[in-house]
Amino acid sequence: VSLRSKRLAKRLDPAASAFLDSTLEDAGLLLDDIIGSLAHVSVLEDAKVLDATEAGRLRSALRHLFKDASEGEVPLFTEHEDVHMNVEVALTKVLGDLGKKLHTARSRNDQVATDLRLFAQRWTLETAARIRDLVESLLWLSKKHPKAVLPGYTHLQVAQPILLSFHLQAHAERFLRDLARLRDAYERLLVSPLGAGALAGTTHPIDPSISANALGFDRSFRNAADAVSDRDYLAELLFAASLALTHASGLAEEFILFTNQSFGFATIGDDYATGSSIMPQKKNPDVFEVTRARSGTLLGALVASLSGLKALPLAYNRDLQEQKRLFVQTFPLVAPNFGLLARMLRSVTFHPERMEAAANEGYGDATELADYLVRQGTPFRDAHHQSATLVRMAGQKKVPLAALTAKEFAKVNPKIGADVVKHLGPHNAVKGRKSPGSTGPAHVEAGRKQLLAELATIENFFVAAGQAREAAWMTLLGKTSKVKK
Ligand code: ARG
Repeated sequence: VSLRSKRLAKRLDPAASAFLDSTLEDAGLLLDDIIGSLAHVSVLEDAKVLDATEAGRLRSALRHLFKDASEGEVPLFTEHEDVHMNVEVALTKVLGDLGKKLHTARSRNDQVATDLRLFAQRWTLETAARIRDLVESLLWLSKKHPKAVLPGYTHLQVAQPILLSFHLQAHAERFLRDLARLRDAYERLLVSPLGAGALAGTTHPIDPSISANALGFDRSFRNAADAVSDRDYLAELLFAASLALTHASGLAEEFILFTNQSFGFATIGDDYATGSSIMPQKKNPDVFEVTRARSGTLLGALVASLSGLKALPLAYNRDLQEQKRLFVQTFPLVAPNFGLLARMLRSVTFHPERMEAAANEGYGDATELADYLVRQGTPFRDAHHQSATLVRMAGQKKVPLAALTAKEFAKVNPKIGADVVKHLGPHNAVKGRKSPGSTGPAHVEAGRKQLLAELATIENFFVAAGQAREAAWMTLLGKTSKVKK
Protein backbone atom coordinates (compact mmCIF):
# COMPACT_ATOMS: atom_id res chain seq x y z
CA VAL A 1 0.00 0.00 0.00
CA SER A 2 1.42 3.39 -0.87
CA LEU A 3 0.27 6.29 1.27
CA ARG A 4 2.41 8.89 -0.48
CA SER A 5 0.18 11.62 -1.87
CA LYS A 6 -0.15 11.55 -5.66
CA ARG A 7 0.06 15.33 -5.59
CA LEU A 8 3.79 14.94 -5.01
CA ALA A 9 5.79 13.99 -8.06
CA LYS A 10 8.90 12.83 -6.24
CA ARG A 11 9.43 10.58 -3.29
CA LEU A 12 10.32 12.29 -0.04
CA ASP A 13 14.04 12.78 0.54
CA PRO A 14 14.96 9.99 2.98
CA ALA A 15 16.59 12.51 5.33
CA ALA A 16 13.37 14.55 5.42
CA SER A 17 11.41 11.39 5.90
CA ALA A 18 13.54 10.31 8.85
CA PHE A 19 13.34 13.81 10.30
CA LEU A 20 9.55 13.93 10.13
CA ASP A 21 8.88 10.37 11.17
CA SER A 22 7.15 9.93 14.53
CA THR A 23 6.57 6.18 14.45
CA LEU A 24 8.89 5.31 17.32
CA GLU A 25 7.61 7.95 19.72
CA ASP A 26 4.07 6.97 18.69
CA ALA A 27 4.49 3.40 19.95
CA GLY A 28 2.89 4.28 23.29
CA LEU A 29 -0.18 5.58 21.44
CA LEU A 30 -0.88 2.40 19.49
CA LEU A 31 -3.70 1.10 21.71
CA ASP A 32 -5.23 4.57 21.90
CA ASP A 33 -5.14 4.85 18.13
CA ILE A 34 -6.87 1.50 17.66
CA ILE A 35 -9.56 2.19 20.26
CA GLY A 36 -10.17 5.62 18.68
CA SER A 37 -10.64 3.91 15.32
CA LEU A 38 -13.14 1.51 16.87
CA ALA A 39 -15.19 4.46 18.07
CA HIS A 40 -14.93 6.07 14.64
CA VAL A 41 -16.41 2.95 13.02
CA SER A 42 -19.65 3.55 14.96
CA VAL A 43 -19.71 7.15 13.76
CA LEU A 44 -19.32 6.05 10.13
CA GLU A 45 -21.96 3.36 10.55
CA ASP A 46 -24.41 5.86 12.02
CA ALA A 47 -23.69 8.24 9.11
CA LYS A 48 -24.29 5.36 6.67
CA VAL A 49 -20.79 5.66 5.27
CA LEU A 50 -20.41 2.03 6.29
CA ASP A 51 -23.13 -0.59 6.24
CA ALA A 52 -23.59 -2.97 9.17
CA THR A 53 -21.52 -5.76 7.59
CA GLU A 54 -18.63 -3.45 6.81
CA ALA A 55 -18.74 -1.96 10.29
CA GLY A 56 -18.77 -5.45 11.78
CA ARG A 57 -15.75 -6.57 9.77
CA LEU A 58 -13.81 -3.41 10.65
CA ARG A 59 -14.64 -3.83 14.33
CA SER A 60 -13.51 -7.39 14.37
CA ALA A 61 -10.23 -6.59 12.58
CA LEU A 62 -9.56 -3.66 14.92
CA ARG A 63 -10.28 -5.81 17.98
CA HIS A 64 -7.81 -8.41 16.74
CA LEU A 65 -5.26 -5.73 16.13
CA PHE A 66 -5.85 -4.39 19.65
CA LYS A 67 -5.26 -7.82 21.12
CA ASP A 68 -2.07 -8.30 19.13
CA ALA A 69 -0.90 -4.82 20.03
CA SER A 70 -1.53 -5.48 23.75
CA GLU A 71 0.73 -8.49 23.41
CA GLY A 72 3.39 -6.43 21.67
CA GLU A 73 2.86 -8.20 18.40
CA VAL A 74 2.16 -5.29 16.10
CA PRO A 75 5.44 -4.02 14.66
CA LEU A 76 5.47 -0.38 13.57
CA PHE A 77 7.31 0.55 10.38
CA THR A 78 8.94 3.94 10.09
CA GLU A 79 8.29 4.02 6.35
CA HIS A 80 4.62 4.69 7.18
CA GLU A 81 5.43 7.97 8.96
CA ASP A 82 3.38 7.51 12.13
CA VAL A 83 1.18 5.20 14.14
CA HIS A 84 -2.02 6.25 12.33
CA MET A 85 -0.73 5.22 8.93
CA ASN A 86 0.70 2.02 10.40
CA VAL A 87 -2.73 1.05 11.71
CA GLU A 88 -4.38 1.87 8.37
CA VAL A 89 -1.81 -0.21 6.50
CA ALA A 90 -2.21 -3.14 8.92
CA LEU A 91 -6.00 -3.01 8.50
CA THR A 92 -5.86 -2.74 4.74
CA LYS A 93 -3.59 -5.77 4.63
CA VAL A 94 -6.34 -7.78 6.33
CA LEU A 95 -9.45 -6.15 4.88
CA GLY A 96 -8.38 -4.86 1.48
CA ASP A 97 -10.42 -1.91 0.22
CA LEU A 98 -12.59 -1.84 3.32
CA GLY A 99 -9.51 -0.83 5.32
CA LYS A 100 -9.18 2.24 3.13
CA LYS A 101 -12.68 3.42 4.06
CA LEU A 102 -11.91 3.97 7.71
CA HIS A 103 -10.28 7.34 7.18
CA THR A 104 -13.51 8.88 5.85
CA ALA A 105 -14.57 12.02 7.76
CA ARG A 106 -11.38 11.90 9.79
CA SER A 107 -7.95 13.46 9.59
CA ARG A 108 -4.76 12.52 11.34
CA ASN A 109 -5.14 15.89 13.01
CA ASP A 110 -8.23 14.98 15.03
CA GLN A 111 -6.94 11.44 15.32
CA VAL A 112 -3.65 12.36 16.98
CA ALA A 113 -5.39 14.84 19.27
CA THR A 114 -7.77 12.05 20.33
CA ASP A 115 -4.94 9.57 20.88
CA LEU A 116 -3.06 12.08 22.99
CA ARG A 117 -6.05 12.79 25.18
CA LEU A 118 -6.60 9.08 25.74
CA PHE A 119 -2.92 8.57 26.49
CA ALA A 120 -2.95 11.55 28.85
CA GLN A 121 -6.03 10.16 30.62
CA ARG A 122 -4.33 6.83 31.26
CA TRP A 123 -1.19 8.41 32.66
CA THR A 124 -3.04 11.03 34.68
CA LEU A 125 -5.02 8.27 36.39
CA GLU A 126 -1.80 6.37 37.06
CA THR A 127 0.03 9.46 38.30
CA ALA A 128 -2.83 10.44 40.58
CA ALA A 129 -2.97 6.93 42.04
CA ARG A 130 0.74 7.01 42.84
CA ILE A 131 0.68 10.52 44.34
CA ARG A 132 -2.23 9.31 46.43
CA ASP A 133 -0.01 6.43 47.64
CA LEU A 134 2.60 8.93 48.70
CA VAL A 135 0.07 11.02 50.65
CA GLU A 136 -1.10 7.82 52.34
CA SER A 137 2.45 6.92 53.30
CA LEU A 138 3.02 10.38 54.74
CA LEU A 139 -0.17 10.15 56.79
CA TRP A 140 0.72 6.63 57.89
CA LEU A 141 4.11 7.84 59.15
CA SER A 142 2.46 10.80 60.78
CA LYS A 143 0.07 8.57 62.71
CA LYS A 144 2.92 6.26 63.66
CA HIS A 145 4.90 9.11 65.25
CA PRO A 146 2.41 11.28 67.13
CA LYS A 147 4.89 12.46 69.79
CA ALA A 148 8.26 12.77 68.07
CA VAL A 149 9.63 16.31 67.89
CA LEU A 150 12.24 17.81 65.64
CA PRO A 151 13.48 21.31 65.00
CA GLY A 152 11.35 23.20 62.54
CA TYR A 153 13.60 25.26 60.29
CA THR A 154 13.54 28.58 58.56
CA HIS A 155 16.56 29.41 56.39
CA LEU A 156 17.55 25.83 57.30
CA GLN A 157 18.47 27.17 60.74
CA VAL A 158 16.74 25.82 63.82
CA ALA A 159 13.58 27.89 64.25
CA GLN A 160 10.93 26.39 66.53
CA PRO A 161 10.28 22.84 67.70
CA ILE A 162 7.54 21.01 65.82
CA LEU A 163 6.00 17.57 65.79
CA LEU A 164 7.31 15.19 63.17
CA SER A 165 3.67 14.46 62.30
CA PHE A 166 3.09 18.17 61.67
CA HIS A 167 6.10 18.29 59.37
CA LEU A 168 5.02 15.21 57.40
CA GLN A 169 1.51 16.57 57.05
CA ALA A 170 2.84 19.83 55.64
CA HIS A 171 4.22 17.74 52.79
CA ALA A 172 0.92 15.87 52.49
CA GLU A 173 -0.93 19.18 52.07
CA ARG A 174 1.22 20.03 49.05
CA PHE A 175 0.68 16.71 47.35
CA LEU A 176 -3.05 16.91 48.01
CA ARG A 177 -3.10 20.18 46.05
CA ASP A 178 -1.13 18.47 43.29
CA LEU A 179 -3.84 15.83 43.16
CA ALA A 180 -6.50 18.51 42.94
CA ARG A 181 -4.63 20.08 40.03
CA LEU A 182 -4.53 16.73 38.23
CA ARG A 183 -8.25 16.30 38.85
CA ASP A 184 -9.01 19.71 37.33
CA ALA A 185 -6.81 18.94 34.34
CA TYR A 186 -8.47 15.53 33.95
CA GLU A 187 -11.87 17.16 33.65
CA ARG A 188 -10.58 19.18 30.70
CA LEU A 189 -9.21 15.99 29.12
CA LEU A 190 -12.74 14.71 28.77
CA VAL A 191 -13.54 16.62 25.56
CA SER A 192 -13.25 14.52 22.42
CA PRO A 193 -11.65 16.07 19.29
CA LEU A 194 -12.68 13.15 17.08
CA GLY A 195 -14.78 14.27 14.13
CA ALA A 196 -13.09 17.65 13.81
CA GLY A 197 -11.38 16.49 10.62
CA ALA A 198 -8.38 18.46 9.44
CA LEU A 199 -9.68 21.69 11.00
CA ALA A 200 -13.11 22.56 9.61
CA GLY A 201 -15.31 19.52 10.12
CA THR A 202 -16.57 17.35 7.27
CA THR A 203 -19.26 17.17 4.60
CA HIS A 204 -20.32 13.71 5.81
CA PRO A 205 -23.35 13.64 8.12
CA ILE A 206 -21.46 12.48 11.21
CA ASP A 207 -22.35 12.80 14.87
CA PRO A 208 -19.12 13.25 16.83
CA SER A 209 -20.94 12.71 20.12
CA ILE A 210 -21.17 9.02 19.22
CA SER A 211 -17.41 8.49 19.36
CA ALA A 212 -17.10 10.85 22.30
CA ASN A 213 -19.53 8.75 24.35
CA ALA A 214 -18.09 5.48 23.15
CA LEU A 215 -14.60 6.50 24.30
CA GLY A 216 -15.81 7.69 27.70
CA PHE A 217 -15.41 11.41 27.05
CA ASP A 218 -17.91 13.79 28.65
CA ARG A 219 -18.65 15.59 25.39
CA SER A 220 -17.22 16.33 21.98
CA PHE A 221 -15.52 19.51 20.76
CA ARG A 222 -17.46 22.68 20.00
CA ASN A 223 -14.99 24.15 17.50
CA ALA A 224 -13.10 21.91 15.09
CA ALA A 225 -10.15 24.27 14.62
CA ASP A 226 -9.64 24.49 18.38
CA ALA A 227 -10.04 20.73 18.72
CA VAL A 228 -7.12 19.91 16.41
CA SER A 229 -4.79 22.76 17.27
CA ASP A 230 -4.32 23.22 20.97
CA ARG A 231 -2.21 21.10 23.26
CA ASP A 232 -2.97 23.12 26.36
CA TYR A 233 -4.09 19.95 28.10
CA LEU A 234 -0.57 18.55 27.74
CA ALA A 235 1.06 21.76 28.93
CA GLU A 236 -1.11 21.94 32.02
CA LEU A 237 -0.45 18.31 32.88
CA LEU A 238 3.27 18.93 32.48
CA PHE A 239 2.87 21.89 34.81
CA ALA A 240 0.95 19.84 37.37
CA ALA A 241 3.57 17.10 37.11
CA SER A 242 6.43 19.59 37.34
CA LEU A 243 4.99 21.16 40.43
CA ALA A 244 4.29 17.78 42.04
CA LEU A 245 7.89 16.77 41.39
CA THR A 246 9.10 20.14 42.63
CA HIS A 247 7.34 19.27 45.87
CA ALA A 248 8.80 15.77 45.76
CA SER A 249 12.29 17.15 45.21
CA GLY A 250 11.92 19.29 48.34
CA LEU A 251 10.90 16.21 50.28
CA ALA A 252 13.79 14.26 48.76
CA GLU A 253 16.29 16.97 49.61
CA GLU A 254 15.10 16.95 53.22
CA PHE A 255 15.43 13.21 53.52
CA ILE A 256 18.91 13.40 52.05
CA LEU A 257 19.75 15.83 54.84
CA PHE A 258 17.87 13.98 57.56
CA THR A 259 19.60 10.69 56.73
CA ASN A 260 23.00 12.40 56.58
CA GLN A 261 25.21 11.32 59.51
CA SER A 262 25.46 14.86 60.90
CA PHE A 263 21.68 15.09 61.21
CA GLY A 264 21.03 11.44 62.00
CA PHE A 265 17.27 12.02 62.15
CA ALA A 266 16.33 9.03 60.03
CA THR A 267 17.59 5.93 58.28
CA ILE A 268 16.21 4.55 55.04
CA GLY A 269 15.55 0.86 54.61
CA ASP A 270 18.42 -1.11 53.09
CA ASP A 271 16.06 -2.15 50.31
CA TYR A 272 16.01 1.47 49.08
CA ALA A 273 19.66 2.36 49.61
CA THR A 274 22.67 1.89 47.38
CA GLY A 275 26.31 1.20 48.14
CA SER A 276 29.56 2.43 46.70
CA SER A 277 31.87 0.55 44.39
CA ILE A 278 34.88 1.60 46.47
CA MET A 279 33.76 2.77 49.93
CA PRO A 280 32.59 -0.26 51.89
CA GLN A 281 30.70 1.71 54.54
CA LYS A 282 28.43 3.64 52.15
CA LYS A 283 24.66 3.72 52.24
CA ASN A 284 23.42 6.21 49.69
CA PRO A 285 19.97 7.74 49.12
CA ASP A 286 20.06 7.56 45.31
CA VAL A 287 16.29 7.32 44.89
CA PHE A 288 15.89 10.70 46.57
CA GLU A 289 18.66 12.11 44.41
CA VAL A 290 17.17 10.97 41.11
CA THR A 291 13.81 12.32 42.31
CA ARG A 292 15.48 15.69 42.85
CA ALA A 293 16.93 15.55 39.34
CA ARG A 294 13.74 14.35 37.70
CA SER A 295 11.88 17.46 38.77
CA GLY A 296 14.35 19.27 36.49
CA THR A 297 13.53 16.95 33.61
CA LEU A 298 9.83 17.70 33.91
CA LEU A 299 10.42 21.39 34.29
CA GLY A 300 12.46 21.26 31.09
CA ALA A 301 9.60 19.49 29.31
CA LEU A 302 7.13 22.11 30.53
CA VAL A 303 9.29 24.97 29.28
CA ALA A 304 9.81 23.18 25.95
CA SER A 305 6.08 22.57 25.62
CA LEU A 306 5.10 26.19 26.21
CA SER A 307 7.90 27.38 23.96
CA GLY A 308 6.67 25.10 21.21
CA LEU A 309 3.07 26.30 21.52
CA LYS A 310 3.97 29.97 21.64
CA ALA A 311 3.04 31.93 18.51
CA LEU A 312 1.57 28.99 16.59
CA PRO A 313 -1.10 30.13 14.14
CA LEU A 314 -4.35 28.16 14.05
CA ALA A 315 -4.95 25.34 13.33
CA TYR A 316 -2.80 22.18 13.05
CA ASN A 317 0.94 22.66 12.58
CA ARG A 318 3.48 19.89 12.45
CA ASP A 319 5.24 21.61 15.37
CA LEU A 320 2.63 19.84 17.47
CA GLN A 321 4.32 16.53 16.79
CA GLU A 322 7.13 17.68 19.06
CA GLN A 323 4.59 18.32 21.84
CA LYS A 324 3.62 14.71 21.57
CA ARG A 325 7.21 13.53 21.84
CA LEU A 326 7.82 15.69 24.90
CA PHE A 327 4.72 14.43 26.62
CA VAL A 328 4.96 10.71 25.91
CA GLN A 329 8.63 10.66 26.83
CA THR A 330 8.42 12.57 30.10
CA PHE A 331 4.96 12.43 31.68
CA PRO A 332 5.09 8.65 32.22
CA LEU A 333 8.29 9.13 34.26
CA VAL A 334 6.30 10.77 37.03
CA ALA A 335 3.99 8.01 38.27
CA PRO A 336 6.66 5.37 39.00
CA ASN A 337 8.71 7.99 40.81
CA PHE A 338 5.84 8.70 43.19
CA GLY A 339 5.06 5.01 43.58
CA LEU A 340 8.64 4.39 44.62
CA LEU A 341 8.71 7.31 47.05
CA ALA A 342 5.50 6.04 48.61
CA ARG A 343 7.04 2.62 49.28
CA MET A 344 10.42 3.99 50.28
CA LEU A 345 9.00 6.34 52.92
CA ARG A 346 7.44 3.37 54.67
CA SER A 347 10.92 1.90 55.02
CA VAL A 348 12.22 4.94 56.91
CA THR A 349 13.15 4.62 60.58
CA PHE A 350 13.14 7.89 62.51
CA HIS A 351 15.43 8.56 65.47
CA PRO A 352 13.38 10.72 67.85
CA GLU A 353 16.21 11.10 70.41
CA ARG A 354 18.46 12.66 67.76
CA MET A 355 15.69 14.93 66.49
CA GLU A 356 14.87 16.06 70.01
CA ALA A 357 18.53 16.70 70.80
CA ALA A 358 18.80 18.83 67.66
CA ALA A 359 15.72 20.77 68.70
CA ASN A 360 17.38 21.42 72.08
CA GLU A 361 20.73 22.38 70.59
CA GLY A 362 19.41 25.24 68.53
CA TYR A 363 17.41 27.10 71.25
CA GLY A 364 14.20 26.52 69.33
CA ASP A 365 12.30 27.33 72.54
CA ALA A 366 13.49 30.95 72.63
CA THR A 367 10.15 32.17 71.22
CA GLU A 368 8.40 30.25 74.00
CA LEU A 369 10.46 32.20 76.53
CA ALA A 370 9.57 35.50 74.85
CA ASP A 371 5.88 34.52 74.81
CA TYR A 372 6.14 33.68 78.54
CA LEU A 373 7.53 37.16 79.20
CA VAL A 374 4.69 38.69 77.20
CA ARG A 375 2.23 36.87 79.46
CA GLN A 376 4.07 38.46 82.45
CA GLY A 377 3.31 41.89 80.98
CA THR A 378 6.49 42.58 78.96
CA PRO A 379 5.92 44.14 75.50
CA PHE A 380 6.91 41.63 72.81
CA ARG A 381 9.91 43.58 71.45
CA ASP A 382 11.44 43.83 74.93
CA ALA A 383 10.62 40.18 75.57
CA HIS A 384 12.43 39.32 72.31
CA HIS A 385 15.56 41.18 73.48
CA GLN A 386 15.47 39.58 76.93
CA SER A 387 15.00 36.10 75.53
CA ALA A 388 17.87 36.67 73.10
CA THR A 389 20.09 37.77 76.00
CA LEU A 390 19.21 34.59 77.88
CA VAL A 391 19.98 32.53 74.75
CA ARG A 392 23.40 34.15 74.63
CA MET A 393 23.99 33.39 78.33
CA ALA A 394 22.89 29.78 77.90
CA GLY A 395 25.03 29.52 74.77
CA GLN A 396 28.11 30.64 76.70
CA LYS A 397 27.43 27.97 79.33
CA LYS A 398 26.55 25.46 76.60
CA VAL A 399 23.29 24.51 78.33
CA PRO A 400 19.63 24.63 77.25
CA LEU A 401 17.49 27.59 78.32
CA ALA A 402 15.69 25.47 80.91
CA ALA A 403 19.03 24.84 82.66
CA LEU A 404 19.65 28.50 83.50
CA THR A 405 19.46 29.26 87.21
CA ALA A 406 16.73 31.35 88.88
CA LYS A 407 19.39 33.99 89.54
CA GLU A 408 20.38 34.17 85.89
CA PHE A 409 16.76 34.47 84.78
CA ALA A 410 16.11 37.14 87.42
CA LYS A 411 19.10 39.15 86.26
CA VAL A 412 17.43 39.64 82.87
CA ASN A 413 13.84 39.89 84.08
CA PRO A 414 12.80 39.54 87.75
CA LYS A 415 9.30 38.50 86.71
CA ILE A 416 10.54 35.13 85.46
CA GLY A 417 9.35 32.50 87.94
CA ALA A 418 10.25 28.86 88.55
CA ASP A 419 7.29 27.87 86.38
CA VAL A 420 9.14 29.05 83.25
CA VAL A 421 10.69 25.62 82.74
CA LYS A 422 7.23 24.18 82.17
CA HIS A 423 7.20 26.11 78.91
CA LEU A 424 10.71 25.32 77.78
CA GLY A 425 12.14 22.37 75.91
CA PRO A 426 10.75 21.03 72.64
CA HIS A 427 7.94 18.90 74.08
CA ASN A 428 6.56 21.71 76.25
CA ALA A 429 6.93 24.13 73.37
CA VAL A 430 4.91 21.96 71.04
CA LYS A 431 2.20 21.30 73.64
CA GLY A 432 1.91 25.03 74.24
CA ARG A 433 0.92 25.73 70.64
CA LYS A 434 -2.77 26.47 70.77
CA SER A 435 -3.57 28.30 67.54
CA PRO A 436 -5.47 26.66 64.65
CA GLY A 437 -3.19 25.00 62.12
CA SER A 438 -0.32 25.03 64.62
CA THR A 439 1.93 22.17 65.59
CA GLY A 440 -0.12 21.66 68.79
CA PRO A 441 -0.96 17.92 68.98
CA ALA A 442 -4.74 18.40 68.83
CA HIS A 443 -4.49 20.55 65.72
CA VAL A 444 -2.15 18.12 64.02
CA GLU A 445 -4.50 15.23 64.71
CA ALA A 446 -7.48 17.22 63.40
CA GLY A 447 -5.46 18.15 60.32
CA ARG A 448 -4.62 14.54 59.65
CA LYS A 449 -8.29 13.57 59.70
CA GLN A 450 -9.19 16.38 57.31
CA LEU A 451 -6.38 15.38 54.99
CA LEU A 452 -7.69 11.80 54.96
CA ALA A 453 -11.20 12.98 54.16
CA GLU A 454 -10.04 15.21 51.29
CA LEU A 455 -7.83 12.44 50.00
CA ALA A 456 -10.83 10.10 49.92
CA THR A 457 -12.89 12.63 47.95
CA ILE A 458 -10.18 13.01 45.31
CA GLU A 459 -9.60 9.29 45.22
CA ASN A 460 -13.31 8.69 44.60
CA PHE A 461 -13.20 11.07 41.66
CA PHE A 462 -10.29 9.24 40.06
CA VAL A 463 -11.65 5.77 40.77
CA ALA A 464 -14.98 6.70 39.15
CA ALA A 465 -13.15 8.26 36.19
CA GLY A 466 -11.02 5.16 35.75
CA GLN A 467 -14.05 2.89 35.90
CA ALA A 468 -15.99 4.95 33.38
CA ARG A 469 -13.06 4.80 31.02
CA GLU A 470 -12.51 1.10 31.54
CA ALA A 471 -16.19 0.36 30.93
CA ALA A 472 -16.18 2.38 27.69
CA TRP A 473 -13.10 0.58 26.40
CA MET A 474 -14.49 -2.83 27.31
CA THR A 475 -17.67 -2.10 25.39
CA LEU A 476 -15.70 -0.95 22.36
CA LEU A 477 -13.63 -4.10 22.54
CA GLY A 478 -16.80 -6.20 22.68
CA LYS A 479 -15.97 -7.52 26.12
CA THR A 480 -18.29 -7.57 29.10
CA SER A 481 -16.99 -5.13 31.61
CA LYS A 482 -15.74 -6.46 34.93
CA VAL A 483 -16.67 -3.16 36.49
CA LYS A 484 -20.11 -2.81 38.06
CA LYS A 485 -21.89 0.29 36.85
N1 ARG B 1 2.38 12.49 13.04
C1 ARG B 1 1.53 13.62 13.14
C2 ARG B 1 1.62 14.23 14.53
O1 ARG B 1 2.05 13.61 15.40
C3 ARG B 1 0.11 13.24 12.89
C4 ARG B 1 -0.67 14.33 12.28
C5 ARG B 1 -0.16 14.62 10.94
N2 ARG B 1 -0.96 15.60 10.32
C6 ARG B 1 -0.53 16.28 9.24
N3 ARG B 1 -1.32 17.17 8.76
N4 ARG B 1 0.65 16.04 8.72
O2 ARG B 1 1.27 15.36 14.74
